[in-house]
Amino acid sequence: MIPEDFIQDLLARVDIVDLVDSYVPLKKAGANYAACCPFHNEKTPSFTVSPSKQFYHCFGCGAHGTAIGFVMEYQGMGFVDAVRELATRAGMTVPDDGSHTPHSGGNTRNLIEVMGRAAAWYKEQLRQSPRAIDYCKRRGLTGETAARFGIGYAPDGWQNLQAVFADYDSDALKQAGLVIDNDSGRRYDRFRDRLMIPIINPKGDIIAFGGRVIDQGEPKYLNSPETPLFEKGRELFGLPQARQAMRATDTAIVTEGYMDVIALSQHGIGNAVATLGTATTPTHVQKLLRQVDRIVFAFDGDAAGRKAAWRALENALEALADNKRIGFVFLPPEHDPDSFVRERGQAEFERLVAQAMPLSDFLLRELAQRCDLTNAEGKARLIYEAKPLLLKLPTPLLRLQLVKRLAEASGFAQQEVERLCELKSYAPPAPARAKRSAPSLSRALLRIVLHQPQLAAQLPIELLPDTPEKPALLKLHELSSGGDGQSYAALRERLRGQPEEQMIETAASEALELPFDGDDGEAEAEFRAALEKLRDAAEMRDFAQLQSKAQQCGVAGLSATEKQAYIQFLTTRGKRI
Ligand code: UTP
Ligand code: MN
Repeated sequence: MIPEDFIQDLLARVDIVDLVDSYVPLKKAGANYAACCPFHNEKTPSFTVSPSKQFYHCFGCGAHGTAIGFVMEYQGMGFVDAVRELATRAGMTVPDDGSHTPHSGGNTRNLIEVMGRAAAWYKEQLRQSPRAIDYCKRRGLTGETAARFGIGYAPDGWQNLQAVFADYDSDALKQAGLVIDNDSGRRYDRFRDRLMIPIINPKGDIIAFGGRVIDQGEPKYLNSPETPLFEKGRELFGLPQARQAMRATDTAIVTEGYMDVIALSQHGIGNAVATLGTATTPTHVQKLLRQVDRIVFAFDGDAAGRKAAWRALENALEALADNKRIGFVFLPPEHDPDSFVRERGQAEFERLVAQAMPLSDFLLRELAQRCDLTNAEGKARLIYEAKPLLLKLPTPLLRLQLVKRLAEASGFAQQEVERLCELKSYAPPAPARAKRSAPSLSRALLRIVLHQPQLAAQLPIELLPDTPEKPALLKLHELSSGGDGQSYAALRERLRGQPEEQMIETAASEALELPFDGDDGEAEAEFRAALEKLRDAAEMRDFAQLQSKAQQCGVAGLSATEKQAYIQFLTTRGKRI
């Protein structure tokens, strides 16, 4: 655990405008700064950074967070690593509270250094190995491509890494997955006589290797084990190399193999990545959809490839949005993307990607194949099979389209399909931002408090009406009381993972548009006025209660204090009722 104080100091020290600007050039726009959003593709800037509140918000895709959140999203890092990265930037040292296991923290940097040294050595070895160079050439790889992917060669031999690491016995080598200790305690190199393909994270660190056997042999690919640096289901091979081409095309091509990515790049198709011997996970899809609006899966043309495509579909559903598209390329059975692009060339492959089968078509075609739609049982089965998939889809529009087509294919009515699949019928999305109606009092309060968090301590919590904003207001009150005034960014980090997070995020983005950005006096006046209205409303509620009681049992039915209050209301406020 990193102490909370440190997070707050860090957020106070780092300027989010400088930080974001170093990745995405910002332009001043009123009190804030704007740019085209780095997390989705757009032509007009809806990505906003607030210097006063120290957070960013994208009105297009909803990306939102503090400096820490930005580094996490942009670099694809975990919280702790993002804090470390920012601390380094700010010249601060993350306090070590002693709770680090040998698997985290400072050790990670050591492992990264070890991997980097190994990779440099493997690269050098490739230059000196005619056998490995010849293999690359036979696969059609140029020196340029080999350099782009940092390809190297681990020569044959059991303890070659001794030449690189004087401390060959160190724990770090084992933890990095570069060596194996056998049962009798003898240590040897994991990778021997293999082409070494580094897996690089978005930050540029080498976190794992895939080692391909030269020519024939088992296993064909030997991969790094899962290590503190490397978690297979999260990483994609080729992502850093593909980033630029992904932005340019707004498309990511997902393949199954290292060599698919490398060969596609060699043939001018730079926007391909590969899962690493695992099925495509929702995390993979999410990662990619943050950067592009379209994913095309291009798996092998054989039965295994088709199966992998279906798995990818199942896992992609929950990460979908109505403005995102997912397509599937089905290659001829004898091909994978590597062999296809080498045989038929860039243009042919690009044509396949452009004409990829939409997810909805693939889904329906696949389900229809599983059911015999000529009889009642088959039609019922279609809906039965579709149900879990429809339930995963968070996209109302696409879901409706699918429901319509399922209805057609099954002979059920659309409403019947919805009912059988227990889908909530489609509710139109909230009205567009520009046409937002006047905010409720709770909403207004929430925005003001997010604008000036020290006001949260003064919230009269007993007066807050039961609105959707109430839990968020209570939370902010709780976080602020006792503490000295915190910045929004500091509050935001304390809310990470809390149920109120979403509501607060939305309201904070609305606060960006408050007219008094930068003027705290005005915000405070606004706050007082809102509290006044709140008290007023509470009084009115009390009065309405008394009045209905008085109407039911007569004024005589009221207690003495109630009577007094009632009469006072009538005389001072009665005209307004
Ligand atoms: P493939 O067997 O389709 O290999 O495995 P490939 O990509 O076509 O490789 P080449 O062209 O023969 O060199 C696809 C992916 O599955 C993982 C690797 O990530 C590989 O790229 N894999 C495969 C392994 O991890 N280990 C293996 O033994 C085989
Ligand atoms: Mn292949």
